[in-house]
Amino acid sequence: MSYQGQFRVWRGDDTGGALEDFTVEVNEGEVVLDIIHRLQATQAPDLAVRWNCKAGKCGSCSAEINGKPRLLCMTRMSIFSESETITVTPMRTFPVIRDLVTDVSYNYTKARQIPSFQPPKDLAPGEYRMQQVDVERSQEFRKCIECFLCQNTCHVIRDHEENKESFSGPRFLMRVAELEMHPLDTADRVDQAQESHGLGLCNITKCCTEVCPEHIQITDNALIPMKERVADRKYDPIVWLGNKLFRR
Ligand code: SF4
Ligand code: F3S
Ligand code: FES
Repeated sequence: MSYQGQFRVWRGDDTGGALEDFTVEVNEGEVVLDIIHRLQATQAPDLAVRWNCKAGKCGSCSAEINGKPRLLCMTRMSIFSESETITVTPMRTFPVIRDLVTDVSYNYTKARQIPSFQPPKDLAPGEYRMQQVDVERSQEFRKCIECFLCQNTCHVIRDHEENKESFSGPRFLMRVAELEMHPLDTADRVDQAQESHGLGLCNITKCCTEVCPEHIQITDNALIPMKERVADRKYDPIVWLGNKLFRR
């Protein structure tokens, strides 16, 4: 069973662009990325789109479908009615390179600002020991495919370009939290999260969690526990006194 679907796709580059209307064949079992590929093959050979795995695992095909941040390869055409016009636009938070392809280098800049795992100095490889419960806690965060849909969605930067300097976004605050929860990591991640990565700007709207294709509980399992650690340090009278005495 196939039908002619109505699509509206954003075309343009960093100097500007507009939505263009297309009618494209849709077949049973297809996803939005199939339609984009058919559009390239039949009507718009120069349409730019980034993709790799077509299996929801490489995180390349992030875009917005009817205004909602989604993976093009994991969005089934069957969730739309045949008469609906489907609008496909690039991620809004990052600068457009061309058509559906955005420049996501902001994310790599933020990733590089996180100091890597720092095990105790006297521990040799092979001597690392940790509880299974600690392994499992960070396992969830390791499912991240770096699609940056959470980064694209978070209003702290989506609506405020000026916050990009001080805010690393949910994906990287989650990485800081993951390292902080690691029992063998010796770095001080609490102050880093607050001072270098802007944890205080997150007001727990949970929009990041809602769009994560890996269903990672970013807010509940990473951001809120991290905020609690910051609060503990700030309001614990012994920690406060220690800071006063030793951190002048
Ligand atoms: Fe994508 Fe989820 Fe990773 Fe964010 S946390 S980059 S939404 S997989
Ligand atoms: Fe942004 Fe997620 Fe916090 S959407 S405000 S990082 S809960
Ligand atoms: Fe790899 Fe969509 S093409 S996640």
